[in-house]
Amino acid sequence: MKDKTINLIVAMDENNAIGNNGGLLCHLPNDLRYFKRITDGHTVVMGRRTFESLPNGALPNRKNIVITTADAEKFPDCTVLRSLDEALAQHDGDSQFFVIGGGQLYRAAFPLTDTLFLTRIHHIFSYSDTFFPEIDFSRWELVDEENHEADEKHKYAYTFLKYKRII
Ligand SMILES: NC(=O)c1ccc[n+]([C@@H]2O[C@H](COP(=O)([O-])OP(=O)(O)OC[C@H]3O[C@@H](n4cnc5c(N)ncnc54)[C@H](OP(=O)(O)O)[C@@H]3O)[C@@H](O)[C@H]2O)c1
Repeated sequence: MKDKTINLIVAMDENNAIGNNGGLLCHLPNDLRYFKRITDGHTVVMGRRTFESLPNGALPNRKNIVITTADAEKFPDCTVLRSLDEALAQHDGDSQFFVIGGGQLYRAAFPLTDTLFLTRIHHIFSYSDTFFPEIDFSRWELVDEENHEADEKHKYAYTFLKYKRII
């Protein structure tokens, strides 16, 4: 049963690609800063493979929940749960709840998501193995948009988009 607000945050290319070989598709420092600013102080929930991709383990200043069947001791400083439903049941509602990936967890969470923070990378990567599900934008209202051109630190242009679910 869902009685919490679910936020989902993701960076994807023009084909909804989100990752390759266990990592991200490209390095966009401003997107990492944006991710930190949006999720700071809140609860983040991630799949096991996304946890394994983090360079320094659990994200600081956030409650980290990892969804996995693996042993809890492999995930220091994290709350380890078996399903998204368990995470939602446990969430106290005091802080905001953010699904942060990866592909498997996004697929489970997207139908339940209320607010979508989407970074659109304006490129199509040839080397992607993980994708976000198709989005029916008629169900979503765009409430915020911020465009950024490519520059010396950002090889690709990108846009921060915030959507609220309508239906
Ligand atoms: N672009 C972005 O914004 C972004 C964000 C995050 C990650 N990524 C990328 O996404 C890729 C990883 O995604 P992924 O799909 O391979 O893996 P993932 O979703 O991160 O993790 C998959 C694992 O998590 C557990 N899991 C996930 N969803 C579950 C569910 N609904 N119920 C129960 N268990 C669940 C299972 O763990 P067990 O097998 O241990 O049981 C599953 O094998 C990487 O390339 C990463 O860099 C991209």
